[in-house]
Amino acid sequence: MSDLREPGFGDPSPFAQTDVARAQRLAALRPVVDGRSIAIGVCAGIASYKVCSVVSALAQCGAEVTVAMTSDAQRFVTPLVFQSLSGRPVIASPWESASPADPQHIKIASALDLCLIAPCTMDMLARLASGRCDDAVSLLAASIDRARTPVLLAPSMNEAMWRQPATQRNLAILRGDGFAILDPASGWQACRAVGPGRLPEPDDLLDAVAHALRGRAAR
Ligand SMILES: Cc1cc2nc3c(=O)[nH]c(=O)nc-3n(C[C@H](O)[C@H](O)[C@H](O)COP(=O)(O)O)c2cc1C
Repeated sequence: MSDLREPGFGDPSPFAQTDVARAQRLAALRPVVDGRSIAIGVCAGIASYKVCSVVSALAQCGAEVTVAMTSDAQRFVTPLVFQSLSGRPVIASPWESASPADPQHIKIASALDLCLIAPCTMDMLARLASGRCDDAVSLLAASIDRARTPVLLAPSMNEAMWRQPATQRNLAILRGDGFAILDPASGWQACRAVGPGRLPEPDDLLDAVAHALRGRAAR
C-alpha cells in the first residue's frame, strides 16, 4: 500500500499549510518592496537557479525587478526564465538597447533602490574589486552610487574557492569600497564538497533585501 495519502476532509494537507506560510511571507515582504526598483545581477554560479525564486517573489510583491546576467550565467539559466518571472526585459549584454544619449546601465542604475548580485562568482568578486566593468552585471554595478543605493553581494562558490586568499582579499577590498557582503551558508555543495560557500536560501536573500530597504525612502 502506498504511503502517499490523498488529503481528505478533516486531514489538513501539508501543501495547503506550505501555501499559507508562503502567502504570509509574501504579505510581510510586500510593504517593503512594493514599488521599489530592484536590480538582480546573476553570475555563472551553479546556484543561479535559486535566484529564480527571489525574482519571482519580488515581482509578486510589486517590485520592479530588472535582471542583468553575465554571458556565462546564461549557460545555467536562460534570460527568458528571468524575463518571464520579472515581466521585464533582461539585460543580457551591455550592448543591447545601447544609445549614446541614454545608455541603459546609467539610466537603470540611477533609478534603483537596491542591487543584489547573486550568485556572485569568485571571478565577479575579482572583477568588482579591481574596478572592471566589461560585462552587463559589473557595468551595472559600476554605474551605481553606493552612497545612495545599497549593492549587496551574495558570494557563492566551492569551499576551496571560498577559502582562496584571493577571494578573501577581494572580499576585504569590496567591504572597504562600501559593498554589503552576505555571508554564504555552509553545507552540501553541488560539487560534492561540504563547507562554506553555499548561496543562502531564497528566503534568506529576500530577508537581506528587505533588511537593506527598510527605513530607506523610495527613489
Ligand atoms: C558547472 C560549473 C559550475 C560553476 N559554479 C561556480 C560557482 O558556484 N561559483 C563560482 O564562483 N564559479 C563557478 N563556476 C566557474 C564560473 O562559472 C566561471 O569562473 C565563469 O567564467 C564566471 O563567469 P561570470 O563571473 O562572468 O558570471 C562554475 C563553473 C562550472 C563549469
